[in-house]
Amino acid sequence: MSNKLEQKKDLDWASLGFEYVKTDFRFTASYENGVWSEGELITSEQMTVHEGAPALHYSQQCFEGLKAQTTKDGRVLLFRPDLNAQRLQDTADRLLMPQVPTELFLRGVEEAVRANYSWIPPYGSGAALYIRPFLIGVGDNLGLRPAKKYEFRVFVSPVGPYYKGEGLSIISLAVTDVDRAAPKGTGHVKAGSNYAGGLLATHKAKELGANEALYLDAAERIYLEEAGSANILLKMTGGRFVTPKSDAILPSVTRRSIMTIAKQELDLEIEERPVNFLKELPEIEEMAACGTAAVLSPVGKVWVNDQWTLFYGEGEKVGPTMQKLYDLLTQLQKGEREDIYGWTKEVVMD
Ligand SMILES: Cc1ncc(COP(=O)(O)O)c(C=O)c1O
Repeated sequence: MSNKLEQKKDLDWASLGFEYVKTDFRFTASYENGVWSEGELITSEQMTVHEGAPALHYSQQCFEGLKAQTTKDGRVLLFRPDLNAQRLQDTADRLLMPQVPTELFLRGVEEAVRANYSWIPPYGSGAALYIRPFLIGVGDNLGLRPAKKYEFRVFVSPVGPYYKGEGLSIISLAVTDVDRAAPKGTGHVKAGSNYAGGLLATHKAKELGANEALYLDAAERIYLEEAGSANILLKMTGGRFVTPKSDAILPSVTRRSIMTIAKQELDLEIEERPVNFLKELPEIEEMAACGTAAVLSPVGKVWVNDQWTLFYGEGEKVGPTMQKLYDLLTQLQKGEREDIYGWTKEVVMD
């Protein structure tokens, strides 16, 4: 499908939020009797599923999220899509769903991006094309058991920043008394049910004036886990750069990348370990949330023990380490500097 010559859509790219925008094509493939179909592009954004589908009743469904960005010279780059393919496979294993083969995952993503060329935000607009691959258990069913049929779909939507604000916006988080994931539950995979359970925590956080909930470990409520849709980064006193280790948090592609950049390019001493939040709070100089949607969002303040704790610059300024990491990451994702890690993958437009 050649859309290269098609004009870009007449959108106000710079004012896009993180909302669904209907684009022209989506990719779909189905699984039945142990075999995946070839997959194809379709135009309808609607899905028809059986009323007994396990995705609807028992949350046998999962998803991924990644972005495509336009470079200055007009190329379109994905960021580490192989890791999203792998994570969807890990999630599928946990939910007794068939794995989407890496080849099918990557082809679905690339075809959906290519077919919607005119919807990919231009370089310098501050927007990106968000890609949402997902896998659901379909077909008739009643009892609690895995589906016999599955659908893999990929849709895309142009998006602006997840947290509103100019450039690098400083966010606030509120420690919640709601648990997101049990120690041996599904917190480490991207199951939709994790997010349904978290809606209440986000709602309560917003009532406190925070952008998002911050979770502690469900077993002891001592150790830092993650935010509702992002992992946590901490710049501690003495130059240590720490991220919480837990079996119940999602292994963020963005976080893994930033930790590598912090070590290799900023020469920081990196640690992935349990973080006793209250005890270590005084040692935190800079804090940030990171993820595909959040990119790297500095955390100015956290609501904990019925009060706000402020971080760098009284919670009003972006700390130097987080600013550098944001710049280094986003320059890489937008092709503004050499990709020394081999993380970006060009979607070649034909
Ligand atoms: C719960 C949760 N943690 C972390 C992340 C960040 O992961 P990634 O960097 O792979 O987008 C996300 C977003 O996908 C998420 O939903």
